[in-house]
Amino acid sequence: MGIESTDDNGIQEQHNNDKAVEKKMQTQVTPSSLATVAGNREVRVPGSEMLGIGLETRGVHAWFGKKHVLADVSLDFAAGTVTALIGPSGCGKSTFLRTLNRMHEFIPTAALAGQVLLDGRDIYAPGTDVTKIRLNVGMVFQKPNPFPSMTIGQNVLSGLKLAQLKRSNTDDLMQSCLERAGLWSEVKDRLNEHGGALSGGQQQRLCIARSLAVEPQVLLMDEPCSALDPGSTFRIEQTISDLAKTMTIIIVTHNMQQAARVSDYTAFFLSDGGPGVMVEVAPTSKIFSAPIDKRTEDYVTGRFG
Ligand SMILES: Nc1ncnc2c1ncn2[C@@H]1O[C@H](COP(=O)(O)OP(=O)(O)OP(=O)(O)O)[C@@H](O)[C@H]1O
Ligand SMILES: [Mg+2]
Repeated sequence: MGIESTDDNGIQEQHNNDKAVEKKMQTQVTPSSLATVAGNREVRVPGSEMLGIGLETRGVHAWFGKKHVLADVSLDFAAGTVTALIGPSGCGKSTFLRTLNRMHEFIPTAALAGQVLLDGRDIYAPGTDVTKIRLNVGMVFQKPNPFPSMTIGQNVLSGLKLAQLKRSNTDDLMQSCLERAGLWSEVKDRLNEHGGALSGGQQQRLCIARSLAVEPQVLLMDEPCSALDPGSTFRIEQTISDLAKTMTIIIVTHNMQQAARVSDYTAFFLSDGGPGVMVEVAPTSKIFSAPIDKRTEDYVTGRFG
């Protein structure tokens, strides 16, 4: 009798457990608000650890020919933090990103005013070694662009070769870059295959590994997940969180959930007919819960853009 009763209790308990699991799963699949997602992140406090090198912009303007596309952007990117740049298409996010490592001037007709300070020094000061700046401030683009006919291993080390940098143990460096980019376990047995043989998500992580090989202190990412499936996106977001322990990261994204998941700070850009301006910057949880500017609120709540 006692045994039967225990079984009954056991069944009841199991049933209750199942219900609890079911309830938990329901809770988990219920979409969280952006503010909740952002609020769940551990807040990183600038200045509390050695986190890398910060970047500041002071009154940055950009033009293409006579067209003024970016006006008076002053933003601080504290060392070791992740900042998301958000805003509607055409407001100047990519242009701004390119001003941060002197890629903007590659574009014919492009002009610039203002200052970009890397670790306190203006990267546009006369006599600056531009190659060094681009090594210190790496960039990952929207579309993964590995060298398709180079092997996976050669791709990782290609930046060293281009910059004519010498490293003693390139095998170790290759492995550590692939590990930090979250790709090592997937490619360690196929390092001699071509970069083009990888999936889109793997190619993007290969590009991240390639940018890490030259040891940048800041990493710029322009919509790095926009062409990727949710699984690859998740892997890259994990990679971003890991990298942010030692680097400063600035990521452009159209995905509000992604901004909420990965960034410490969010800056909202907008072009209202004229050049793009930076409307508001704040800790990400604040941008999604209590933005100051009505235009930010309208954008993050999906009323436009
Ligand atoms: N190479 C170029 N030559 C001329 N104008 C350009 C060039 N690149 C961008 N622009 C213009 O500069 C403005 C800002 O473009 P940018 O690409 O920086 O916007 P964005 O915010 O990154 O947009 P998206 O979200 O669509 O990527 C736009 O008006 C665009 O048409
Ligand atoms: Mg862009």
